[in-house]
Amino acid sequence: MISIDDALSLIQKGDVVAIPTETVYGLAASYTNLDGVERIFQLKNRPSDNPLILHGADLSDFYPLIAHLPPDFEKLAAAFWPGPLTLIVDSCLDKIPAIVRGNLPTIALRIPNHPQTLALLKKTGPLVAPSANISGRPSATHPDHIKVDFGTDFPILEGEFPQNGVESTILMIDQGKWSLVRLGAIEGDRFLPYLGYIPSYKAGSIHSPGQRYRHYAPQKRLELASQKDPAPEAVMIGYDDRDYPYPLAISLGNSQNPKQIASHLYKALRHLDQLEGLYGWIDDRLPSEGLYATLAERIWKASQKKD
Ligand code: TXA
Ligand code: MG
Repeated sequence: MISIDDALSLIQKGDVVAIPTETVYGLAASYTNLDGVERIFQLKNRPSDNPLILHGADLSDFYPLIAHLPPDFEKLAAAFWPGPLTLIVDSCLDKIPAIVRGNLPTIALRIPNHPQTLALLKKTGPLVAPSANISGRPSATHPDHIKVDFGTDFPILEGEFPQNGVESTILMIDQGKWSLVRLGAIEGDRFLPYLGYIPSYKAGSIHSPGQRYRHYAPQKRLELASQKDPAPEAVMIGYDDRDYPYPLAISLGNSQNPKQIASHLYKALRHLDQLEGLYGWIDDRLPSEGLYATLAERIWKASQKKD
């Protein structure tokens, strides 16, 4: 683990540093340093048309980069930042390198809620930070996950490990209204008091390049309880408060506690690959509202076969 000052000097040199946020770890570089940004794409093996989220410490970091302020932008920012919300806005094209935006005219913005990372951002200015995982794998929620994907010596900024366990909720303006392009740590109905409506979600959104790619997947095949009965050769992933015909190998916590499930999910998907057993079997029989919608989407994507 490295200090804020060590992270600062690495980033000033154009290096990439893993940073904790309240959602998941990110791989951070300065958005103005093209070597650093390119290194992020290489490290993650990320397709070049998949844009990065720009993280700032303060709204004033973002104003010079936004071409038009969308309606209710400041209301949402005041209500949810710092926090697990990402807002996509029209970007000043000459101020943000095209590689950061995946060549789109827009930029995704977020102020994360994490003391050390905010302190670093105050010193560095805005940093791009995709989740700290090789593309397609579950996001990193623990330093060990970063070590598995990027090596034991990879620099990781000190500070509390991510608590939410799922990524930020992403909103984008579509025909004058905000819509959800990625379900995340903030439930859709929490926007109602600020917007007067619940942003709609179109699964497989064409608005967000990242939604097209395979995600969150363990290496082992993952079967869903809603589609297949469990078998003795499966690694059972489920909840402490439910009974199963075979012993649970991995617990996601209590089925009534979606926050707890979210904080365990990616760790569980990574743990599956370390255990004996032919394939994973995960209990996806959960309610559909609130944070459960995010969990259902992540579990379903993790179960999708490679093409
Ligand atoms: O919680 C989070 O958001 C974490 C932490 C590290 O902040 N970051 C994260 O970044 O999840 P990443 O790169 O793994 O996911 C960002 C998603 C991708 O699906 C990407 O396609 C989408 O945001 N995205 C970024 N910029 C966009 C844009 N301008 N328009 C549409 N989608 C965008
Ligand atoms: Mg990601």
